[in-house]
Amino acid sequence: MRTVFWDYERQSLKMIDQRLLPMQMIIAEFTDYRAVARAITEMYVRGAPAIGAAAAFGLALAAHQSTAPGREQLLADLDSAAATLNAARPTAVNLAWAVSRLLAVAQQPSLASASAIRAALLAEAQRLADEDVALNRRMGFHGAELINDGDTILHHCNTGALATVDWGTALGVIFAAHEQGKQIHVLVDETRPRLQGARLTAWELQQRGIAYDVIADNAAGHFMRTGQVDIVLVGSDRTAANGDVANKIGTYKLAVVAKENGIPFYPVVPTSTIDLNLAHGDLIPIEERDQEEVLTVFGQPITPAGATARNPAFDVTPHRYVTGIVTEVGIIYPPFLRNLRAAVAAAQPDPAG
Ligand code: MRU
Repeated sequence: MRTVFWDYERQSLKMIDQRLLPMQMIIAEFTDYRAVARAITEMYVRGAPAIGAAAAFGLALAAHQSTAPGREQLLADLDSAAATLNAARPTAVNLAWAVSRLLAVAQQPSLASASAIRAALLAEAQRLADEDVALNRRMGFHGAELINDGDTILHHCNTGALATVDWGTALGVIFAAHEQGKQIHVLVDETRPRLQGARLTAWELQQRGIAYDVIADNAAGHFMRTGQVDIVLVGSDRTAANGDVANKIGTYKLAVVAKENGIPFYPVVPTSTIDLNLAHGDLIPIEERDQEEVLTVFGQPITPAGATARNPAFDVTPHRYVTGIVTEVGIIYPPFLRNLRAAVAAAQPDPAG
């Protein structure tokens, strides 16, 4: 089952509610684009490519909801819906990328009527979602070239089917290596504060029968220094033109320790996550989330009453710590400034979807 999908019978958007996994598997239904924006903020759906697909279907939903009789009125309604969706989370560039891709379709002069725009937007959102699945698989098998039989892979956050429409990015590389018959073992960072590793990555690995151990985030350095990690694989929420990588908080520390210990560090990044408009990682907006996420675990306080917390959701890893970047068009090595630009140019929508 896909993480994000359109229900053609009910004309609604459906998404796995990831806040409840692995304890409960509930599919939430959305008939209002504003509720889709809230679901992105509240992390029913999370992971850069999944957020992008949710926003694309959210805009298709906005077109469906709008009662605008003509083209111009509908385009005005879509601009306002796009602003609401774009504001849902700041770091993952896939959100703005997906919204602007759909707006460009809506604005095509050949779409003369409101109903033509509505149909075109839903078709484009579906195409974007189908492409995501196909390119993730391609990217996974490119990345699997880096994995040797017997490797132990350190992984952060959740980058699997749940973080995308299906299959995944860094976890997709692990799935591809497993499909190739390689015996691999995954050290799963639990990923405080929202525990995407412990809850979601462990769940996905277990379903596929891939060997893993969950580790406390603080244990990663120990495993790297003692020679128990062969490669570090992570995702990215936005990668700048120079190869600086924003990803889940804690990634930077992993990259620095990996370099110190001579362990290769590879972000796995679809080209939709590469933001060539940003020269370097310090320009990437870093989301700071509610302090309650740090002060509580599953709603239970873990600190004295009145304690305060800081909660940046992402950090930036400077490109000097990045061995290479796995994309759907192959593995990109330094100089990133030149080679990432070429990779984005080479990426074409998959005609087969
Ligand atoms: O806050 P989240 O759970 O949305 O953060 C997700 C990540 O940081 C992933 O590593 C990233 O989106 C890339 S993997 C698809």
